[in-house]
Amino acid sequence: MYDAIEHILFDETEISNAVNRIACSVNNDYENEQLVVIGVLKGSFIFLADLIRKLDIDFTIDFIRASSYGENTESAGNVRIISDISENIENSNVLLVEDIIDTGYTLSYIVDYLRGFSPLSIRICTLFDKPCKRVIPIKPDYAGIVIDDRFIVGYGLDYNEKYRGIPYVGVPKFDPKK
Ligand code: IMP
Ligand code: MG
Repeated sequence: MYDAIEHILFDETEISNAVNRIACSVNNDYENEQLVVIGVLKGSFIFLADLIRKLDIDFTIDFIRASSYGENTESAGNVRIISDISENIENSNVLLVEDIIDTGYTLSYIVDYLRGFSPLSIRICTLFDKPCKRVIPIKPDYAGIVIDDRFIVGYGLDYNEKYRGIPYVGVPKFDPKK
């Protein structure tokens, strides 16, 4: 057990099962289609790495990074793109891969931004979803695990850029709002 973790919420097996379920649906939905998988940095990189190794369809990979000013643990609503995609996604099917959707500010901003490039389709895939925290009504097409209002770290998810490398997902001992 890592020092900063109060208790484990989802172990490696539970996470892997969720990733497998999502991969299964994605494989079915994009059979015979070209896909651009876009990871939302930084949090999604571990989930994305595991997910794409379960895909048996044709795809390319790109990344985007957005940031919001304000509080540490919640989006403040004023999102901006700080690292852009490098592929041409015009007329492509896009699958956005996110670690967790909370208020929805980050992802709805990114979806609107990417629509400007005229992709054929955009779908959203998230490993964790906190629908009870939603401010912007955005619904993922693929959601691995739905959780209630709690702050989690590990498996790519950070607190102040730490704890991303923890192989499971846990609740920190500290209060993330302080
Ligand atoms: P949203 O814009 O409020 O939906 O926030 C999405 C982003 O906030 C995610 O991509 C995460 O980086 C971060 N985030 C939200 N909830 C958590 C959490 O419980 N742990 C770690 N990061 C979180
Ligand atoms: Mg984060």
